[in-house]
Amino acid sequence: MPRKVIIDCDPGIDDAVALTMALFDPRLEVLAVTACGGNVPADQATGNLQSLVKLLDPPRLPRIGVAAADGLLPARPFSLHGSDGLGGLNLPHANLHGAHSAEKVIWETLRAHPREVTIIALGPLSNLSRALTRDPAVAELIHRLVVGGGTIHGNGNASAVADFNFFCDPHAARHVILEPVAKTLVPLETSGQVIFGFDILDELPDESSRAGMILRRMLPHLFRAHRQILGSEGIVMHDVVTLVAALNPELFERTSVVADVETTGDLTTGMLVIDRRQTKTARPNADLLVGCDAAAVADCVLRSLVSAGAATE
Ligand code: RIB
Ligand code: CA
Repeated sequence: MPRKVIIDCDPGIDDAVALTMALFDPRLEVLAVTACGGNVPADQATGNLQSLVKLLDPPRLPRIGVAAADGLLPARPFSLHGSDGLGGLNLPHANLHGAHSAEKVIWETLRAHPREVTIIALGPLSNLSRALTRDPAVAELIHRLVVGGGTIHGNGNASAVADFNFFCDPHAARHVILEPVAKTLVPLETSGQVIFGFDILDELPDESSRAGMILRRMLPHLFRAHRQILGSEGIVMHDVVTLVAALNPELFERTSVVADVETTGDLTTGMLVIDRRQTKTARPNADLLVGCDAAAVADCVLRSLVSAGAATE
């Protein structure tokens, strides 16, 4: 029985790669995909998501949720994704009519499939926080959250100690992390263990496939950006690893933690704070993935991308 999921994302190249994998994975039933501002402003995120879904044209079209107007997104410290968020892919605009707000789509999907849906969060947690604020009771309808974000030891990317997704909307991150919902956190140190070299470009599906076309146009940009901005010869795709964490949890080492998120520190806003004190009152509220079999995860990714290529010939 395919697993029912909602994918919330801020496409973004790694979001787009994860989406391509998910939409053609027989283990998943992608009920809805929802956009949020983050890598790009909200409207661009919605446009990218609509264009990606229209181009990929999966066997089962998911509902699409429109990103809410941006709040005060912090200045992006840097972007690996290019001005359009997809490495200059410049897909034709696809205005899918009748799209509803992301929070409404999340809320309706959870109510239609109570306690069956896993939400895979690949961007700032703004939509999830809004849906939970709209109707706090919906929390008990979520089967599990798999959240790409946070750090184990404060090795941040958006700041010295915070990952980009939590940094963009720390109040939303704190709201969601403190919700009494089963949740898995995929922090940067773990998703960053999976590094892809240039050889991946030879293993991507052919450009004649819809999946191959977008992958072969986006990933060279990501390699250039990693080299020019981060000085690294390989690429990491945090959202792709977060998706694999939802699909193949056996490839990851986990520990139960008491987690919270800093929302006010000048230097620490957005930091995932783990309380490691051994007290009688401690109540773990998240499974933190503290490591993975990086080679096996990378293999899962490549096999999934090849499958997506075959499905979009
Ligand atoms: O910190 C990793 C996150 O930042 C990923 O979701 C990536 O898409 C960027 O948004
Ligand atoms: Ca993302």
